Amino acid sequence: MSIDSRGIHGIWLSRWTFIMAATGSAVGLGNLWKFPYVVGNNGGGAFVLIYFLCMLLVGVPVMMAEVVLGREGRNSPINSMSYVVKNSECCQAWQLIGWIGVLAGLLILSFYAVIAGWGLHYILEVFSGSTVGVDGESAALLFGDLTSDPAKLIVWQTIFLGMCLTVVSGGVKKGLGAAVEILMPLLFIMLIVMLIYAILEGNFIAACRFLFEFDIASLSWRAILEAMGLAFFTLSIGMGAIMAYGAYMPAGVSIGRTVLIISVFDSLVAIVAGLIIFSIVFSTSGIEPTAGPGLMFISLPVAFGSMPAGQVIGIIFFVLVVIAAWSSAISLLEPATAWLVEATGFTRFMASFLLIGFVWFLGLGSVFSFNLGRDFTLAGFTIFDGLDFMTSNILLPIGGLAISLFVGFVMNKDALLKQMVDLEGYLLTLKTPSSCKTLSLRVGWDWVLRYVAPTAIAAIFIMGIYDNMSY
Ligand code: TRP
Repeated sequence: MSIDSRGIHGIWLSRWTFIMAATGSAVGLGNLWKFPYVVGNNGGGAFVLIYFLCMLLVGVPVMMAEVVLGREGRNSPINSMSYVVKNSECCQAWQLIGWIGVLAGLLILSFYAVIAGWGLHYILEVFSGSTVGVDGESAALLFGDLTSDPAKLIVWQTIFLGMCLTVVSGGVKKGLGAAVEILMPLLFIMLIVMLIYAILEGNFIAACRFLFEFDIASLSWRAILEAMGLAFFTLSIGMGAIMAYGAYMPAGVSIGRTVLIISVFDSLVAIVAGLIIFSIVFSTSGIEPTAGPGLMFISLPVAFGSMPAGQVIGIIFFVLVVIAAWSSAISLLEPATAWLVEATGFTRFMASFLLIGFVWFLGLGSVFSFNLGRDFTLAGFTIFDGLDFMTSNILLPIGGLAISLFVGFVMNKDALLKQMVDLEGYLLTLKTPSSCKTLSLRVGWDWVLRYVAPTAIAAIFIMGIYDNMSY
């Protein structure tokens, strides 16, 4: 394992490429598919409020810490962590952050690709006209036809993983950077088209009430753990994806400001996706917000089947889903790929090809969770549910906890200050009485990172797991 490979992968063209890449990573199935159905299952507004609190108090500081580690290490998460740990003269065990992260990324990608495959299938389904005029029942049957057929799922999963391979094997500038510069603007345009459509044709008021009216008493610890897991998942933090992207971030760019922009984009997209989907759900009779993972794939085809211009809008919507999933999935593959290149000297193509093969194989577990292996459960979880729960609600929070403690207490202070010094530059350009403002901002972040985030993660984690066991 070499750490003198620092910087071999290259640097993003500009700060905006980093913002687009990180936003591309953050905005994905988590926002479009998972957020709406998890909110639906947990009763709406109160859950959304907790999700936002977690984004702000835990998500933003942890994401900043991850970028700090990446930009200081300038390597794959595994070698970045080993570099920073050596420099900090501390216990070697902190290096586990990198290893567990890379593993978690591959586990997430294995089920993520299956769901993204559903999206690909639905582009064709809507295009072929088979959703025209369907009601709730027949839409559920169509969805069942897809998920009960392992061969179909495998074909789509394979195509999607092939798409990821194409991008990641192209490297930081020509692969990842070029892809996000095309995909992200497209994604935002499509999202705006969908939002306008939902306002004009859906039950927008009911959607707003569902998302924003809250009754805090309805929340369990289990739901709060889920809200925190979702915040980690939609921000792509806790496993090194953002650390890997941070490693390619130009020096001197403000980490705080950049991370704030990314998290605002990410929460906005989750809310807009929720508004779009619930506007349509509430305007279509016979569909409940509690439909689970099938919510998007059952309710929307019904709506598209009967609403004006439904077929065109339906195609746009599922293309949007696939683009969002694609720009996220590449960030799940990048940490492991960068590491394999550093460790073995393989070409990028070879490294990503081998990893995709491994992920494809793991993904079969999720494929069969919906059909042949439906009854194969452990503690009530199918393989798909288990992977989802274990990564979002266990591995990512633990990763986030370790990252915040490491950067907050252990990391070499000079290195940390070097990465955060831009905060000072930013304030100076604002011509504020800089020294005290800078200090208070930095102390603010430091303080949240050291005390608030770890306490919140640990408390929610312990109560949530306890609640889950007694469920
Ligand atoms: N954030 C993505 C989404 O919302 C998924 C994702 C990409 C992710 N990279 C990640 C989740 C890293 C956790 C960790 O769909």
